[in-house]
Amino acid sequence: MKHFLEISQLSSDLVKKFILRALEFKKTGQYPSYSNNILANLFYENSTRTRVSFMLAANNLRIASINLDLQHSSEKKGESFEDTILNLSAMGVNLFVIRHNQNGFSQALANSLLGDEHIINAGDGTHSHPSQAMLDFMTIFEHKKHLKDLKIAIVGNISHSRVANSLQSLSSLMEVGELALVAPEAWQPESTQYGYVTSSLKDGLADADVIITLRVQNERLLDNQKISVAAYHDNYGITSKTIKYAKKDVMIMHPGPINRGVEIDSDIADGENSFILQQAKNGVFMRMAILESLLSQSPS
Ligand code: CP
Repeated sequence: MKHFLEISQLSSDLVKKFILRALEFKKTGQYPSYSNNILANLFYENSTRTRVSFMLAANNLRIASINLDLQHSSEKKGESFEDTILNLSAMGVNLFVIRHNQNGFSQALANSLLGDEHIINAGDGTHSHPSQAMLDFMTIFEHKKHLKDLKIAIVGNISHSRVANSLQSLSSLMEVGELALVAPEAWQPESTQYGYVTSSLKDGLADADVIITLRVQNERLLDNQKISVAAYHDNYGITSKTIKYAKKDVMIMHPGPINRGVEIDSDIADGENSFILQQAKNGVFMRMAILESLLSQSPS
């Protein structure tokens, strides 16, 4: 695998290998060295978890890393994105982690490059966020091994969520038992890759083993798609009342960043069922497994 762009590249066996390798990194704390490589983060949208975890993953694997400060880069002087990549590549950068608001941006770049560069999609528009879905499944697998027996409910702005798209792909690949996509009508997708759509939080959460709630992405909404914070919280918030629709040992997850009191209440985000910080922690190990696979063709 030369690039890591979307879940559709992967087989279920490869997903399992990634998860087991990431769990091995987490358990043993023993990491190989890939010191002859350089990683560059190019984030055209804000990020905390993804950007930092790729840097920490690189650091653990002895890969040098840089964060290109795009506010002060020469793209502001008219340099094209492609020329930026070529110049960084000439200086030795061979791993490019890219987040962009344009769907398919990393995929198009990967198709246009002929050299040894590896492109990693860290989120493209509303299209996909594959490393997030992988770390989410690592976190689920760590606690509930039988994915085929699980009911997962994804709650929120499904139609604008790249995370929800990648989670649908991965749920299909790994044959998750049931996937409920819970959203108000304004945020329901026109089509789905896997699972079923419901506007009923109660039905969607009924007997769920895992709830993945999403941030309300106001920056992606048109005026006619906006819903008041209070109305959203009343109808779709994950609270001490609504969590009771799900199984008692339900895992509460969120890719982050969370907006407390909007899609999730603080007592749930910080409560005993919450795995939100476990997701952030696992992100480092999953991204190590992804970097390793690109550099060593292992796992393959
Ligand atoms: N989940 C996620 O992508 O978080 P960041 O935007 O902080 O990277």
